[in-house]
Amino acid sequence: MNSLIAEMSNVQFENQHPSQGDRRKELLQGLQQPQKSVNPKYFYDARGSELFDQITRLFEYYPTRTEKQILQRYRSEIADYCGRGSILIEPGSGSSEKVRLLLDALKPAAYVPIDISAEFLYQSAMQLGEEFPWLKIHAVCADFNHDWAVSSALPQSKKVFFYPGSTIGNMDPAAAASFLSTLREKMGRDGGVLIGVDLHKSEQRLNAAYNDSQGITADFNLNILTHINPLLDAEFSRETFSHHAFYNTDEQRIEMHLVSDQKQTVRCNGSAVSFEKGETIHTENSYKYTLEGFAQLAQSADLEVQHSWLDEEKLFSVHYLESI
Ligand code: AVJ
Repeated sequence: MNSLIAEMSNVQFENQHPSQGDRRKELLQGLQQPQKSVNPKYFYDARGSELFDQITRLFEYYPTRTEKQILQRYRSEIADYCGRGSILIEPGSGSSEKVRLLLDALKPAAYVPIDISAEFLYQSAMQLGEEFPWLKIHAVCADFNHDWAVSSALPQSKKVFFYPGSTIGNMDPAAAASFLSTLREKMGRDGGVLIGVDLHKSEQRLNAAYNDSQGITADFNLNILTHINPLLDAEFSRETFSHHAFYNTDEQRIEMHLVSDQKQTVRCNGSAVSFEKGETIHTENSYKYTLEGFAQLAQSADLEVQHSWLDEEKLFSVHYLESI
């Protein structure tokens, strides 16, 4: 079932054939709840990925540049913790941009990018392989939230998961704990996790990061409707919804919603979805952690924070975890 094709001497591609699942069913279920919702993974069609890329370069959106500064600045200390010559595995690797900051310091025995988008993964792995001719790349096309396996074709070295970008912030704490447990199982007794986590801070700063003055985040949020319309055979009109993002202090998370500007009924999958004026579709949670809060989360997955690296303003954090 797995196809292994050696394309360049240092790049291998393994297709674990992730199934898309029943996206229509999943979307309909979310839209039929009392609080309507769409999973944030639907942000990332081609246009959405491009908009997210623009978000990462916005002045108000501090996480990406801050995390990159931390990785760059502390790469040699990070390598001391992760160990040189380990196998570096990145779930949801996308364009493998951040790992580039670590490769020379970490000198991994292999780099394993895992992504659901075969085409994008393939292009990114080939590009990286050209830039780092000494690096063994074993790209795996899989859905890391479901069924995937660390290939047996890899060298027998320490396994370190790299999970940057505060992607873990999309999960509620229970889901985040169970995701970390899965990583712990897959990395084995002597493995590690290097993870980027956004930190709790002033509400003003948080709100600004998700309500940028150029309206890129609003565009990103509204684009989810454009993406799901053909998947659902639906007629959501962007013009009748507005972007709303706010910090929910009790839950310690940014929530993004699309607010219906009017009472309306939207044709959807041969049926209909009705909105009161002001009713919302919840599109994303982005949890923010304190250092103590994240250490507790890790502990609930039997992981221990060995070291945390922060920027000077304490906006963002990168942690190295090991099994307790
Ligand atoms: C990619 C999930 C980390 O939560 O900050 C950016 C996505 N949403 N602006 C985040 C996002 C709105 C981002 N994550």
